[in-house]
Amino acid sequence: PRVQDLAGRRVVVSAGPTREYLDPVRFISNPSSGKMGFAVAEEARDRGARVVLVSGPVSLPDPAGMEVRRVDSALELRDAVVGAALGADVVVMTAAVADYRAAEQSQEKQAKVAQEVVVRLVPNPDILAELGGQKGRRVLVGFAMETHAGVERAAAKAQRKNADFILLNYPTQEGTSFGGDDNEVTLVRPDGSWEAWPRTSKREVARRLLDEAVRLLPGD
Ligand code: C5P
Repeated sequence: PRVQDLAGRRVVVSAGPTREYLDPVRFISNPSSGKMGFAVAEEARDRGARVVLVSGPVSLPDPAGMEVRRVDSALELRDAVVGAALGADVVVMTAAVADYRAAEQSQEKQAKVAQEVVVRLVPNPDILAELGGQKGRRVLVGFAMETHAGVERAAAKAQRKNADFILLNYPTQEGTSFGGDDNEVTLVRPDGSWEAWPRTSKREVARRLLDEAVRLLPGD
Protein backbone atom coordinates (compact mmCIF):
# COMPACT_ATOMS: atom_id res chain seq x y z
CA PRO A 1 0.00 0.00 0.00
CA ARG A 2 1.23 3.43 -1.01
CA VAL A 3 1.76 6.19 1.55
CA GLN A 4 -1.43 8.30 1.59
CA ASP A 5 0.32 11.67 1.37
CA LEU A 6 -2.39 13.07 -0.93
CA ALA A 7 -5.33 12.00 1.23
CA GLY A 8 -8.01 14.70 1.19
CA ARG A 9 -6.23 16.57 -1.61
CA ARG A 10 -7.73 17.38 -4.97
CA VAL A 11 -5.56 16.79 -8.00
CA VAL A 12 -6.38 17.76 -11.58
CA VAL A 13 -4.41 16.23 -14.43
CA SER A 14 -4.67 16.98 -18.13
CA ALA A 15 -3.49 14.38 -20.62
CA GLY A 16 -3.21 13.55 -24.27
CA PRO A 17 -3.31 15.69 -27.40
CA THR A 18 -6.00 18.07 -28.52
CA ARG A 19 -7.68 18.01 -31.93
CA GLU A 20 -8.26 21.24 -33.78
CA TYR A 21 -10.82 20.53 -36.47
CA LEU A 22 -10.61 22.19 -39.90
CA ASP A 23 -13.84 20.53 -41.02
CA PRO A 24 -15.85 17.56 -39.65
CA VAL A 25 -13.28 14.98 -40.76
CA ARG A 26 -9.92 16.76 -40.67
CA PHE A 27 -7.92 18.06 -37.78
CA ILE A 28 -4.52 19.26 -36.61
CA SER A 29 -3.10 17.28 -33.70
CA ASN A 30 0.07 15.63 -32.36
CA PRO A 31 1.17 12.10 -31.39
CA SER A 32 0.68 12.41 -27.61
CA SER A 33 -0.45 9.03 -26.23
CA GLY A 34 -1.75 10.29 -22.88
CA LYS A 35 0.36 7.72 -21.01
CA MET A 36 2.29 10.27 -18.92
CA GLY A 37 -0.84 12.07 -17.73
CA PHE A 38 -2.71 8.84 -17.00
CA ALA A 39 0.28 7.67 -14.94
CA VAL A 40 0.20 10.89 -12.89
CA ALA A 41 -3.56 10.55 -12.34
CA GLU A 42 -3.26 6.90 -11.25
CA GLU A 43 -0.34 7.61 -8.94
CA ALA A 44 -2.24 10.52 -7.33
CA ARG A 45 -5.31 8.29 -6.88
CA ASP A 46 -3.21 5.58 -5.24
CA ARG A 47 -1.81 8.15 -2.80
CA GLY A 48 -5.31 9.11 -1.66
CA ALA A 49 -6.15 12.12 -3.84
CA ARG A 50 -9.53 12.88 -5.36
CA VAL A 51 -8.56 13.05 -8.99
CA VAL A 52 -10.11 14.67 -12.05
CA LEU A 53 -8.45 13.51 -15.26
CA VAL A 54 -9.17 15.68 -18.30
CA SER A 55 -8.08 13.86 -21.42
CA GLY A 56 -7.93 14.62 -25.09
CA PRO A 57 -8.53 11.77 -27.56
CA VAL A 58 -6.34 8.80 -26.59
CA SER A 59 -6.79 5.03 -26.86
CA LEU A 60 -6.39 4.40 -23.11
CA PRO A 61 -9.45 3.22 -21.12
CA ASP A 62 -10.83 5.29 -18.22
CA PRO A 63 -8.82 4.52 -15.08
CA ALA A 64 -10.93 3.39 -12.11
CA GLY A 65 -11.41 5.50 -9.01
CA MET A 66 -11.37 8.96 -10.52
CA GLU A 67 -13.52 11.35 -12.52
CA VAL A 68 -12.57 11.27 -16.20
CA ARG A 69 -13.63 14.00 -18.61
CA ARG A 70 -13.00 13.39 -22.30
CA VAL A 71 -12.54 16.40 -24.57
CA ASP A 72 -11.38 17.11 -28.13
CA SER A 73 -10.18 20.66 -28.65
CA ALA A 74 -7.97 23.01 -26.67
CA LEU A 75 -10.98 25.22 -25.94
CA GLU A 76 -12.88 22.24 -24.50
CA LEU A 77 -9.82 21.16 -22.52
CA ARG A 78 -9.51 24.66 -21.11
CA ASP A 79 -13.14 24.76 -19.95
CA ALA A 80 -12.85 21.37 -18.26
CA VAL A 81 -9.47 22.09 -16.62
CA VAL A 82 -10.31 25.59 -15.43
CA GLY A 83 -13.60 24.33 -13.99
CA ALA A 84 -11.96 21.42 -12.20
CA ALA A 85 -9.04 23.56 -11.00
CA LEU A 86 -11.30 25.64 -8.75
CA GLY A 87 -10.56 24.28 -5.32
CA ALA A 88 -7.80 21.95 -6.53
CA ASP A 89 -4.56 21.58 -4.55
CA VAL A 90 -2.41 20.39 -7.43
CA VAL A 91 -2.82 20.86 -11.19
CA VAL A 92 -0.56 18.93 -13.55
CA MET A 93 -0.74 20.03 -17.18
CA THR A 94 0.56 17.02 -19.04
CA ALA A 95 -1.64 17.57 -22.10
CA ALA A 96 0.06 18.41 -25.38
CA VAL A 97 -2.26 21.30 -26.14
CA ALA A 98 -2.27 22.41 -29.79
CA ASP A 99 -0.84 25.91 -30.01
CA TYR A 100 -3.22 26.94 -32.81
CA ARG A 101 -6.70 26.21 -34.06
CA ALA A 102 -8.30 26.97 -37.41
CA ALA A 103 -9.63 30.52 -37.62
CA GLU A 104 -12.65 29.12 -39.44
CA GLN A 105 -14.08 25.68 -38.87
CA SER A 106 -16.14 24.49 -41.81
CA GLN A 107 -19.39 22.71 -40.92
CA GLU A 108 -19.20 20.73 -44.17
CA LYS A 109 -16.37 18.60 -45.44
CA GLN A 110 -14.16 20.76 -47.64
CA ALA A 111 -13.93 19.45 -51.20
CA LYS A 112 -10.50 18.66 -52.56
CA VAL A 113 -9.21 21.26 -55.00
CA ALA A 114 -6.27 21.23 -57.41
CA GLN A 115 -4.85 24.52 -56.13
CA GLU A 116 -2.80 25.32 -53.08
CA VAL A 117 -4.90 25.69 -49.93
CA VAL A 118 -4.18 28.23 -47.21
CA VAL A 119 -5.40 27.54 -43.67
CA ARG A 120 -5.48 30.47 -41.29
CA LEU A 121 -4.64 29.57 -37.70
CA VAL A 122 -5.23 31.55 -34.54
CA PRO A 123 -3.46 30.94 -31.21
CA ASN A 124 -5.15 28.85 -28.55
CA PRO A 125 -5.29 30.15 -24.98
CA ASP A 126 -2.39 29.03 -22.81
CA ILE A 127 -4.19 27.12 -20.07
CA LEU A 128 -1.19 26.73 -17.78
CA ALA A 129 -0.45 30.46 -17.99
CA GLU A 130 -4.10 31.23 -17.27
CA LEU A 131 -4.01 29.05 -14.14
CA GLY A 132 -0.71 30.67 -13.17
CA GLY A 133 -2.32 34.10 -13.38
CA GLN A 134 -4.81 33.04 -10.67
CA LYS A 135 -2.45 30.77 -8.82
CA GLY A 136 -3.61 31.02 -5.24
CA ARG A 137 -2.12 28.22 -3.09
CA ARG A 138 -2.31 25.63 -5.83
CA VAL A 139 0.78 23.76 -6.90
CA LEU A 140 1.07 24.09 -10.69
CA VAL A 141 3.14 21.71 -12.77
CA GLY A 142 3.83 21.84 -16.51
CA PHE A 143 5.65 19.77 -19.07
CA ALA A 144 7.74 21.07 -21.92
CA MET A 145 9.27 19.44 -24.94
CA GLU A 146 12.24 21.26 -26.35
CA THR A 147 14.72 20.43 -29.06
CA HIS A 148 17.43 22.83 -27.85
CA ALA A 149 18.38 25.10 -24.92
CA GLY A 150 15.94 23.04 -22.89
CA VAL A 151 16.74 24.11 -19.34
CA GLU A 152 16.83 27.83 -20.10
CA ARG A 153 13.67 27.70 -22.18
CA ALA A 154 11.84 25.58 -19.59
CA ALA A 155 12.89 27.90 -16.74
CA ALA A 156 11.70 30.91 -18.71
CA LYS A 157 8.44 29.09 -19.38
CA ALA A 158 7.95 28.21 -15.70
CA GLN A 159 8.54 31.85 -14.82
CA ARG A 160 6.25 33.27 -17.50
CA LYS A 161 3.43 30.82 -16.74
CA ASN A 162 3.94 31.02 -12.96
CA ALA A 163 4.36 27.24 -12.64
CA ASP A 164 6.13 25.75 -9.61
CA PHE A 165 8.17 23.51 -11.86
CA ILE A 166 8.28 22.07 -15.34
CA LEU A 167 9.34 18.62 -16.44
CA LEU A 168 11.40 18.99 -19.56
CA ASN A 169 11.83 16.27 -22.13
CA TYR A 170 13.26 15.97 -25.60
CA PRO A 171 11.31 14.50 -28.52
CA THR A 172 14.34 12.72 -29.94
CA GLN A 173 15.26 10.30 -27.18
CA GLU A 174 14.82 6.63 -28.04
CA GLY A 175 11.85 5.04 -26.29
CA THR A 176 10.86 8.10 -24.30
CA SER A 177 8.18 10.79 -24.55
CA PHE A 178 5.58 10.34 -27.34
CA GLY A 179 3.97 6.94 -27.09
CA GLY A 180 6.62 5.11 -25.08
CA ASP A 181 6.31 3.60 -21.60
CA ASP A 182 9.47 5.31 -20.33
CA ASN A 183 10.42 8.91 -19.96
CA GLU A 184 13.60 10.79 -19.26
CA VAL A 185 12.96 14.23 -17.86
CA THR A 186 14.69 17.13 -16.19
CA LEU A 187 12.88 18.98 -13.42
CA VAL A 188 13.31 22.73 -14.01
CA ARG A 189 12.30 25.44 -11.56
CA PRO A 190 11.50 29.06 -12.39
CA ASP A 191 14.75 30.18 -10.72
CA GLY A 192 16.70 28.13 -13.26
CA SER A 193 17.72 25.34 -10.88
CA TRP A 194 17.27 21.85 -12.29
CA GLU A 195 17.65 18.11 -11.62
CA ALA A 196 18.09 15.54 -14.37
CA TRP A 197 16.21 12.35 -13.49
CA PRO A 198 17.34 9.01 -14.88
CA ARG A 199 15.34 7.34 -17.62
CA THR A 200 12.58 5.33 -15.97
CA SER A 201 8.93 4.31 -16.35
CA LYS A 202 6.29 7.01 -16.73
CA ARG A 203 4.78 5.72 -13.47
CA GLU A 204 8.07 6.33 -11.64
CA VAL A 205 8.31 9.81 -13.19
CA ALA A 206 4.76 10.39 -11.89
CA ARG A 207 5.83 9.25 -8.42
CA ARG A 208 8.76 11.66 -8.33
CA LEU A 209 6.66 14.48 -9.75
CA LEU A 210 4.10 14.05 -6.98
CA ASP A 211 6.84 13.76 -4.32
CA GLU A 212 7.98 17.21 -5.40
CA ALA A 213 4.41 18.57 -5.52
CA VAL A 214 3.70 17.26 -2.00
CA ARG A 215 6.80 19.06 -0.69
CA LEU A 216 5.42 22.31 -2.14
CA LEU A 217 1.89 21.92 -0.75
CA PRO A 218 1.02 24.47 1.91
CA GLY A 219 0.07 22.94 5.29
CA ASP A 220 -3.52 23.20 6.50
O1 C5P B 1 4.62 26.64 -24.13
P1 C5P B 1 4.59 25.16 -24.16
O2 C5P B 1 3.50 24.60 -25.03
O3 C5P B 1 5.91 24.51 -24.44
O4 C5P B 1 4.24 24.77 -22.65
C1 C5P B 1 4.01 23.47 -22.30
C2 C5P B 1 3.18 23.43 -21.04
O5 C5P B 1 2.11 24.37 -21.11
C3 C5P B 1 2.51 22.08 -20.86
O6 C5P B 1 2.38 21.85 -19.48
C4 C5P B 1 1.17 22.28 -21.54
O7 C5P B 1 0.20 21.41 -21.03
C5 C5P B 1 0.87 23.73 -21.20
N1 C5P B 1 0.09 24.42 -22.26
C6 C5P B 1 -1.17 24.91 -21.94
N2 C5P B 1 -1.90 25.56 -22.91
C7 C5P B 1 -1.40 25.74 -24.14
C8 C5P B 1 -0.11 25.26 -24.46
C9 C5P B 1 0.60 24.59 -23.49
O8 C5P B 1 -1.62 24.75 -20.80
N3 C5P B 1 -2.12 26.37 -25.06
